[in-house]
Amino acid sequence: MSDRLWWKHGVVYQIYPRSFMDGNGDGVGDLAGIRARLDHLAWLGIDAIWLSPIFPSPMADFGYDVSDYCDIDPVFGQLAEFDALLAEAHARGIRVMIDWVPNHTSDQHAWFRESRADRTNPKRNWYVWRDHKADGELPNNWVAMFGGPAWHPDPATGQLYLRSFLVEQPDLNWRNPEVERAMHGVLRFWLDRGVDGFRIDVIHRIAKDPAMRDNPPSERPGPGWGGQLHVYDENHLDIHDFLRRIRAVLDEYDERAAVGEVGLAPAQVASYLGRGDELHLAFNFAFLLEPWDCEAFGRELALFDASVPPESWPDIVFSNHDIPRHATRWDHPQLGEARARAAAVILLAARGTPFLYFGEELGMRNGEVPPERRRDPLAWTLHPNASRDGERTPMQWSASAGAGFTHGDPWLPLAADWLTRNVEAQRADRTSILWLYRDLLALRRRTPALERGSFRLVPAPGGVLAWERRHDRSRALVAVNFGDAAQSPGLPAAAVRDGVWTRAGEPLPSDAAQLALGPCEAAVLAVDV
Ligand code: NOJ
Repeated sequence: MSDRLWWKHGVVYQIYPRSFMDGNGDGVGDLAGIRARLDHLAWLGIDAIWLSPIFPSPMADFGYDVSDYCDIDPVFGQLAEFDALLAEAHARGIRVMIDWVPNHTSDQHAWFRESRADRTNPKRNWYVWRDHKADGELPNNWVAMFGGPAWHPDPATGQLYLRSFLVEQPDLNWRNPEVERAMHGVLRFWLDRGVDGFRIDVIHRIAKDPAMRDNPPSERPGPGWGGQLHVYDENHLDIHDFLRRIRAVLDEYDERAAVGEVGLAPAQVASYLGRGDELHLAFNFAFLLEPWDCEAFGRELALFDASVPPESWPDIVFSNHDIPRHATRWDHPQLGEARARAAAVILLAARGTPFLYFGEELGMRNGEVPPERRRDPLAWTLHPNASRDGERTPMQWSASAGAGFTHGDPWLPLAADWLTRNVEAQRADRTSILWLYRDLLALRRRTPALERGSFRLVPAPGGVLAWERRHDRSRALVAVNFGDAAQSPGLPAAAVRDGVWTRAGEPLPSDAAQLALGPCEAAVLAVDV
């Protein structure tokens, strides 16, 4: 199909580079490793990869503290290695998105080193500096998401700088046109190199209230992030102007796209799509907070579908590097595997671009990371349980030492099940969840209704979620049994032409009306119009 747009009709696979594949045996994943594993991704059938940050960084926040936007951190490789990865991905029809972190730099970035050198430095105003109030108090009551006040004192110059995350991540001042120009230059640097797009970090925070008013207290007032309503420290309306100009930069090139991380409620998230002139996609994170619940899933699917303006396109995310993996969140003593399989059907048959997180195609759970091996700074700036290390344990490639991820000592421990849950074992087993993902991806690609069709919930018995997708003469019916008892979804009568279900090795019924689902089973059926 000539009008197939990779970011709209395709599927994106997130790689957390430290944890995907180690090419040089130092225990940390790298670009050479990703290159070596591109064939797995091509076999799986995804359209694009998104690489979490690979730029030079002191790694206080594992790359989300960038000290040079236009280079590669030596732990991951060099620019030449990146170019080779890009070329080899493109040769396989795989697009490459990289992470762009516009809200803050590392405190080791040359811009910040200059900015903090003295009050009259030309880069002083590239960051947000304020004096203490006359009474010695902080400029306002804002707090950092990663713990502590948002204002950090800089004894050398006697002022405070704003930081929304770690102390090592000072916020850039986007209201300074020089900053905006420099950051557009970063986009062009990578676009000229051939990257296909960007995942934009916390875009809803790049502009704050210019008057810097105090946030009001939330319903649960307190010193931490949850104690305030974030009225003035994020989501300022000016962000939409910034986004339109970012979009204009991308539109100078062919078929490039940006997906934004917007940490707000779904309707606000959708507003970052503008009228098709802001972000191409904005992450729908609604499912990260929902339990395994039929009603909740139906509500969230319908809500985001309705919130996205007609010129734009939705997307769907179940897991990423910041939240326990969904196979862990929705785990169940008997039905955990079935739920992970049913989740794959939901993700790949909903309307919108699916974002997969590396390893979810194996049904990977969070790894156990004992306190002495924790690496994520949130374990000490917030709370030991806030550590995100569990969802970042290495990819499980095989049952050989290091899980086929590394010849050295992995930077985080392997999850307990790596000997049995790995790519090699699952590729050899036609009934595995890996094959289910592959079958669903292939079905999606050959079924216009699934790639690009409309979405409509259809009536179903309690505990079953069913919907229809339609595009021209292509139609698909989807049913998911969330419960622990068998159910007949009662789909409308329609001849089944094609489809995939979570029950391995058994043929689909010939008519959709005959579909019967066991506990936590799900099916997607391409049917006659
Ligand atoms: C969101 C990223 O996903 C997260 O990993 C990071 O710590 C924060 N933004 C700060 O950049």
